[in-house]
Amino acid sequence: MSRKRHIDPPAASIDPEDSREVAPAERSGEQAWQAALRPQSFDQYIGQRDLIDNLKVSVRAARENGWALDHFLFAGPPGLGKTTLAHVIANEMGVNLHVSSGPAIDHKGMLASLLTSLGEGDALFIDEIHRLAPVVEENLYPAMEDFRFDLFIGEGPHAKAVTMQLPRFTLLGATTRMGLLSAPLLDRFGFCWQLRYYEQADMIAIVKRSAALTKVTIDQDGAVEIARRSRGTPRIANRLLRRVRDFAAVERDGVIDGDIAASSLDRLAVDHAGLDMLDRAYLSVICERFDGGPVGIEAVAASLSEERGTLEEVVEPFLLQVGLIARTPRGRVATAAGYQHMGLAAPSKAPSGGQGPQGRLF
Ligand code: ADE
Repeated sequence: MSRKRHIDPPAASIDPEDSREVAPAERSGEQAWQAALRPQSFDQYIGQRDLIDNLKVSVRAARENGWALDHFLFAGPPGLGKTTLAHVIANEMGVNLHVSSGPAIDHKGMLASLLTSLGEGDALFIDEIHRLAPVVEENLYPAMEDFRFDLFIGEGPHAKAVTMQLPRFTLLGATTRMGLLSAPLLDRFGFCWQLRYYEQADMIAIVKRSAALTKVTIDQDGAVEIARRSRGTPRIANRLLRRVRDFAAVERDGVIDGDIAASSLDRLAVDHAGLDMLDRAYLSVICERFDGGPVGIEAVAASLSEERGTLEEVVEPFLLQVGLIARTPRGRVATAAGYQHMGLAAPSKAPSGGQGPQGRLF
């Protein structure tokens, strides 16, 4: 197996270089901040315990027997750690990680160049794998199955089929939309896992770890407040920690406690359950413009001038998880908890939705 080295993603890729050479606080930009806080090993990884335990077994079996690791697929809303897991797995295997994404591999030649640049045992991470072009996806099948790539050289009647043998590699796929993946692609993964929103105790631990790494002083109440408003999503927690750090630095002595965390997050329009302006606008449209639903996603998207995909992939999964909305065959409906969250009286037709955000997730 080739020695571990991070491979630069192609220009259209989504992932930044993950480097720890400069202290996180001195690096600029949200992506650099997030990358610097990323755990590097299973031991540093907080939460998703059952997944991590399964991965540890597979990685150990592969390492101890000299096997290439099987192809794995991770699904779930943005920010739950799909990219992070790819880095951790490659680190733990001691192999190179090549990073790309479905939209970046826009033709067969691009896939050929990615696959032929892999070394023996390397891992290839394809984010947003549900957005691969059909012709690219079809050419991925023999690569995943037999480590083979079929090429045609020349054109017309003189074209010749050439089969290239690829090194054994591990494909790590990530998607926010498992339902959009074709059955043949799904069948070629040895393991598909739906990531869950993180438990509150894990979120608190992640906020404390990130604060320690960035040399931000935070007390228990401050960590609890940021964790509570982060929608069970580490990427959001790390982003909010950075914003609250700014308020604490300017308006206090730099220390984050419960008060400064709560007042900063209020001012950033992140409410006590972690809903931001778009979440509340979405709920308000269903409750007030569409009388609680059922309403189709296209109508909600048009009312908000938002992309349907953003609502389906980013906004709805959390609102469904915490019971503020429900899906019915005729469309989305606001639950009684959803009305209550917006400070509105629920009509009798509204489904209960459980106890709302506090009851469901935390
Ligand atoms: N930072 C972002 N995600 C994390 C996780 N799952 N564990 C530790 N630190 C993190």
